Amino acid sequence: MLNVAILISGGGSNMQRLLEDMARPHPGRARLVLSNRPEAGGLAKAEAMGVATEVLDHRSFGDDRAQFETELHKILLAYKIDVICLAGFMRILGADFVSAWQGRMLNIHPSLLPKYQGLYTHRRALEAGDRLAGCSVHEVVPQLDAGPVLGYSEVPILPGDTAQDLADRVLVQEHLLYPKILRAFLSRFEPPS
Ligand code: GAR
Repeated sequence: MLNVAILISGGGSNMQRLLEDMARPHPGRARLVLSNRPEAGGLAKAEAMGVATEVLDHRSFGDDRAQFETELHKILLAYKIDVICLAGFMRILGADFVSAWQGRMLNIHPSLLPKYQGLYTHRRALEAGDRLAGCSVHEVVPQLDAGPVLGYSEVPILPGDTAQDLADRVLVQEHLLYPKILRAFLSRFEPPS
């Protein structure tokens, strides 16, 4: 059984879908939900589902990203985490941290990567006049939103859509995609010996 940590910063709707899936027979066990923001709504949802939570407030580290990531790494080791899922975790992680977890860290991103890495994905898709938007689950590498894509879902962009309309429609697909990809990823995953 592989120990999974889910890292969040906000409402945690993707986190919730992953936890619900891991409550069924699954190659992974939800060991920890960690937020870099104490006010993240996802923390209470995780607690209600009986999953351990931790808060590591990035603001208490000031500009010292390396120290934040050192502490994060320590917590993950203390919980014996095998695989990390970023689920709306809105902190960029540095190369040292990412390298330590490379091949064991997934992220969900609200665009059809490699299009629209970074922020404001829906607004940028609308401004570009795209007909299709979507979401991607990828392995995390040191370059932002650039790792191998493990799966994606497409969503049509409809006339008159606002960025919020699109975000809502894409989120529905995120909730289906991430649990499916995590399951498949873990079932092929060999923990380091
Ligand atoms: C999701 O749309 C996720 O794809 C996005 O944040 C939202 C979190 O929602 N992630 C990113 O933009 C990462 N760059 P949630 O907290 O309800 O899961």
